[in-house]
Amino acid sequence: MRGFIITGTSSGIGHELCKLLLENPDNKVIGIGRTQNIEHTNYNHIALDLNNISEIENIEFPSWSNAAQISLIHNAGWIGPIQKIGNQELGAIASAYIINLVAPAVLSSQFISMYKSSQAQKVILSISSGAAHTAIGGWSTYCSSKAGLDMLSKCIDEEYQDIINLSIAPGKVDTPMQNDIRFADEKAFPRLKEFQKYYKDGELTDAKKVATKYNQILQNPKNFLQLNRVSDI
Ligand SMILES: NC(=O)c1ccc[n+]([C@@H]2O[C@H](COP(=O)([O-])OP(=O)(O)OC[C@H]3O[C@@H](n4cnc5c(N)ncnc54)[C@H](OP(=O)(O)O)[C@@H]3O)[C@@H](O)[C@H]2O)c1
Repeated sequence: MRGFIITGTSSGIGHELCKLLLENPDNKVIGIGRTQNIEHTNYNHIALDLNNISEIENIEFPSWSNAAQISLIHNAGWIGPIQKIGNQELGAIASAYIINLVAPAVLSSQFISMYKSSQAQKVILSISSGAAHTAIGGWSTYCSSKAGLDMLSKCIDEEYQDIINLSIAPGKVDTPMQNDIRFADEKAFPRLKEFQKYYKDGELTDAKKVATKYNQILQNPKNFLQLNRVSDI
């Protein structure tokens, strides 16, 4: 069997990827997030707000002692306060970093500790963003937390040769996150019209199509070690 732990399975990319993984009866999936809307015999949900960082410590991962592969997928993410720094609320700044970066660091630590003796192929896949490499006005917490997520992946890769670490951006995807972006205040987000046009012109990729590529990556993760964007597959 193959075991997957994935954050944010209630919508968008994570929801579609979870459903694809469950199509294979050999796969077992644990989802972590505030909302459960997937029911399947091979699916267990841990209801948790990643913003409550102390609760992450109480998560118990299964032993999956007969697994051929065990993967942790950092998918949950929040665009954060779309606002220039200086106008953001303290709590929103902290939440964005906790959900996008601190929670993945803590979950990675628990995953590594739990499966250190496992002979399974171990994978940590982070759903990155083009915003990790491009500064976007109004998105300071998102851009910097995603840049941190990329670097977290690289550091774990330096430290653990027995873990395949991937941090791969999905491109512009038609999900609730993009919807939030389109309703931002233009004074706080100068590129608002450009993002509204992506949607109007049909330039957003379908979440299922993107999830199919991540599923392909998880089947043969060693083939995608140098990949930064799913669009390059
Ligand atoms: N859409 C894009 O164009 C795009 C582009 C680049 C990168 N990405 C990245 O792709 C990933 C998936 O995003 P998406 O576009 O599919 O967004 P989405 O549809 O908004 O889904 C976000 C997921 O994250 C979970 N989540 C958010 N806050 C959470 C919290 N506090 N605790 C637990 N779970 C939380 C949500 O679950 P609950 O609300 O149920 O908790 C939801 O399932 C994110 O990491 C995002 O940064 C997306």
